[in-house]
Amino acid sequence: MRRFLSLLWNGQALRHLPFALSNPAESPVRLELHRPSSRPRDVSDQHVPVSMRPLILGVRVDESFGDLVARDCTLVVTDRVTEERLGEIQLTPGDSVPLGDARLQLFRTTGSRNRTVPPLTRWWRYALSWEHARRAPARGDGLCMSASDLRCLNVYYMWPRPVFLVGVAAGDRSNFFPMDLVGRVDADHFLLALRATSPAIELMETSRVIAMSAAPADQRRAVYALGAHHRKSSVDTSALPFDVGRSERHGLPVLRGGFTRELSVQQVHRFGSHVLFDCRVDAEQGTTPRQLAHISAMYAEWLARHRRPVEEADPG
Ligand SMILES: Cc1cc2nc3c(=O)[nH]c(=O)nc-3n(C[C@H](O)[C@H](O)[C@H](O)COP(=O)(O)O)c2cc1C
Repeated sequence: MRRFLSLLWNGQALRHLPFALSNPAESPVRLELHRPSSRPRDVSDQHVPVSMRPLILGVRVDESFGDLVARDCTLVVTDRVTEERLGEIQLTPGDSVPLGDARLQLFRTTGSRNRTVPPLTRWWRYALSWEHARRAPARGDGLCMSASDLRCLNVYYMWPRPVFLVGVAAGDRSNFFPMDLVGRVDADHFLLALRATSPAIELMETSRVIAMSAAPADQRRAVYALGAHHRKSSVDTSALPFDVGRSERHGLPVLRGGFTRELSVQQVHRFGSHVLFDCRVDAEQGTTPRQLAHISAMYAEWLARHRRPVEEADPG
């Protein structure tokens, strides 16, 4: 009874479940951009999160998309196996960022639909998450996303988001912290969205190089503990509970023995709560068979009901 009352009082966030991703190239869902009087476009390999407050999503588009400005769109999430339409996010176009001969079109989210759970369950979870969002300032949550944006984000997380440990350094300062708001939109452009309050931004803007290592799923607790580094101006990377070495190309902190990627920063943009780093991929090597990733808990439950459960990530 006490737990129930506390749940009602505090509310509860819509969860993004940690799990072990075996093949990052294979997503269980497809993302399509739907526009009035145009055929839907598969944008599964062309989208990234850009800002959390307000929630802004980016989609790489080229001339073949036609004029997107002033046309509301819908991002539709479809399960690849059953072809069921699981969710939708309503979008309004805004700014864009040049990406060579294409561009990253930014969209503000304006609403969503989620069909992964029965209406009553959805209503109950949305009510709890609304209360949780309302109490965000009292909890000292610096981001304070709106309840509507949190629902949109939860639909967006039906697309699994692999977690990376990002290694940066400039002068005598360095840092090593987890990120999942990252993604590749084409062969030449890898993007990362980092909260504007993060002291690591200065290191990345100064050195113009970044290394990232796939976070091992079976050290989930230790990976999450590195979340605290998001607020630190420098970290001693030799004193971490991981086997940290130096990347080959840029000499930045990386995990030894797994997948690593090295990047050069091409452009830096500020949108809403986050700073967007547009990077070129300089090198990739190694493999991590079970990478830590996040997925919408409601979609993970849907997958379990359809006998395709996600693999659990061991806390380690
Ligand atoms: C697994 C993981 C992934 C994260 N990914 C990102 C990210 O991509 N971008 C970002 O700005 N912050 C990211 N964060 C940082 C968190 O949003 C948060 O700011 C950080 O953990 C500090 O939280 P606190 O201020 O509540 O202690 C991540 C944190 C964790 C643990």
